[in-house]
Amino acid sequence: MSTFHPDPEATGAETPHLDFAGTTPYEDYVQADVLTHLQHLRSDDPGEMVFLVTTQVMELWFTVIVHEWETAAHALREDRIPVARDALKRSLRELEALNASWKPLAGLTPAQFNSYRGSLGEGSGFQSAMYRRMEFLLGDKSASMLVPHRGAPRVHAELEKALQEPGLYDETLALLARRGYAVPRSVLERDLSQKYEPSPAVEAVWAEIYADADQNAELVRLGEVLTDVGELVWRWRNDHLTATRRAMGSKTGTGGSAGVAWLEKRATKSVFPELWTARSHV
Ligand code: HEM
Repeated sequence: MSTFHPDPEATGAETPHLDFAGTTPYEDYVQADVLTHLQHLRSDDPGEMVFLVTTQVMELWFTVIVHEWETAAHALREDRIPVARDALKRSLRELEALNASWKPLAGLTPAQFNSYRGSLGEGSGFQSAMYRRMEFLLGDKSASMLVPHRGAPRVHAELEKALQEPGLYDETLALLARRGYAVPRSVLERDLSQKYEPSPAVEAVWAEIYADADQNAELVRLGEVLTDVGELVWRWRNDHLTATRRAMGSKTGTGGSAGVAWLEKRATKSVFPELWTARSHV
């Protein structure tokens, strides 16, 4: 126990320990020293720091969200719906925190962004492997998205695995099939490395489930939490699009795309499409 007392007036209440043989137990767990020394700025512009840290913060949230969705996908495979829902519900709070982290960049002007944009070279969020794993888990698979990561063996291997594995929606539809719903074989046995394509039969299944919410309460709750996930992902894409439009208008992206025009197309993609379209038939 420590013999130091930081506040001599402290009476009664024990004060925190101060003396540790090596690094603090906090540091051993959090690795804050590593985390807070990963900000290698490329320009002298004082505004670059928040751009880099916001990006790093978002990478950390992507990592947490991927963890939750993988937990949920495994639980669905084992028919443990409450475990899956808990993980998905945690991910909703995390998606909200992720989306709130746009705040510091949301008002970036073109002149401010230009002050360090040149130092980013060809670097672009498009090359984020963790974001790509999120998209894969949501069903937007594409082998070509592995190409940028050929030079990073661990990242490439993780993405390759994620490309071949069933996503959240694949596991949900397999569960519905096990419950006796008429999910077509072509959907259940689809090539998992391809993008999920909407199916009228799956739309009919969701319409049937939603039509009798009392009877199908558990599945409706699952459908709703997945819909919440889809909505919050859509919000992230749109906040990104708006921040980009404010910061650079219609210039081309550092990653080589048409910029806003390309992001607009990405933002319109529907997450878990039949969960949205089935609503017209309930
Ligand atoms: C206001 C600052 C930002 C601007 C102007 C911007 C701009 C762009 C542009 C133009 C693209 C299209 C690809 C390209 O040609 O580069 C893109 C993609 C992307 N950006 Fe940003 N970005 C910003 C901030 C961020 C931040 C903070 C993140 C967090 C990691 C991020 C993540 C992404 C991701 C994941 C993509 C790929 C989206 C997809 O595949 O659909 N961006 N960004």
